[in-house]
Amino acid sequence: MDPLDNRQLQLRDDGRLRHFLTIDGLGRELLTEILDHAESFAGVNERMVKKVPLLRGKVIANLFFENSTRTRTTFELAAKRLSADVVNLNIGASATAKGETLLDTLRNLEAMHCDMFVVRHPSSGAAHFIARHAAPYVSVINAGDGRHAHPTQAMLDVFTIRREKGDFSRLRVAIVGDILHSRVARSQILALNRLRVGELRIVAPRTLIPEEARSLGVHVFHDIHEGLRDVDVIIMLRLQRERMHGARLPSEHEFFQRYGLTGERLALARPDAIVMHPGPINRGVELDSAVADGAQSVILKQVGYGIAVRMAVMSMALGPDAAREAS
Ligand code: NCD
Repeated sequence: MDPLDNRQLQLRDDGRLRHFLTIDGLGRELLTEILDHAESFAGVNERMVKKVPLLRGKVIANLFFENSTRTRTTFELAAKRLSADVVNLNIGASATAKGETLLDTLRNLEAMHCDMFVVRHPSSGAAHFIARHAAPYVSVINAGDGRHAHPTQAMLDVFTIRREKGDFSRLRVAIVGDILHSRVARSQILALNRLRVGELRIVAPRTLIPEEARSLGVHVFHDIHEGLRDVDVIIMLRLQRERMHGARLPSEHEFFQRYGLTGERLALARPDAIVMHPGPINRGVELDSAVADGAQSVILKQVGYGIAVRMAVMSMALGPDAAREAS
């Protein structure tokens, strides 16, 4: 979809966020607004009473057609901390009756007066489809659709980078691993470029890099030693076996040999570099346990920040001045 169409679909007439489906089409100002609101919500999450009344009376439905631990839980906690009522629907994905199932589910939830749908679906475009068919008062948040987009994950990742490292323009960031199948990588690349990161690299074997990579404004590396040299941020990705059709990789062991993050390879980055991963991590496949649990890892911080970022997006989409009142 064209960035202009994405902009129109996601924003209200006055420019405020209505749906959050993709980073595509959204400006630097809006992304920065999300990060700034998340900053104030991070404060709420450190209090004894972790709750604000911003979305009291609103009903949020978590619609997960695909497995999830972190994303579903943090969306639920975010909604509860905003005082919304939450319903969780774990719907087994049906590849055949997709359109019908989605529309049927949508109409039923609208009949229950849900104000927001948080959608995860194995098909790319599912969240857009729901947003296009939703009632005018409903907001849709994409919690991951196929290989396409995972915008709240990208925002929590850039939030982590901003908190840990500050000014994006001075940073060198490397995204390492299965870029081809990763909706997270696609959204991260859009967000980091929109926020004007100094240099963005992707590091992966040829078979795990999408054809359009060079048009995405990234530097492509096939050798991890070159790719990690002097970077400030390393983002590791999971091998998405469930999305691989055919043998794209010889073995997980060989992948680790060539692309796994070990202490030795981490030493090629800047001494204060941080290690990130959206989870779930596979120890010994993408990264060594010692690195995952090491001093430079911020993987668990990312999870916590996910709540603040999701609170920001939900409150911006559901209440005119909701997020502003919180700060
Ligand atoms: C990611 C996802 O589901 O896209 N995980 C997440 O949301 N935390 C990445 C993955 O599954 O590897």
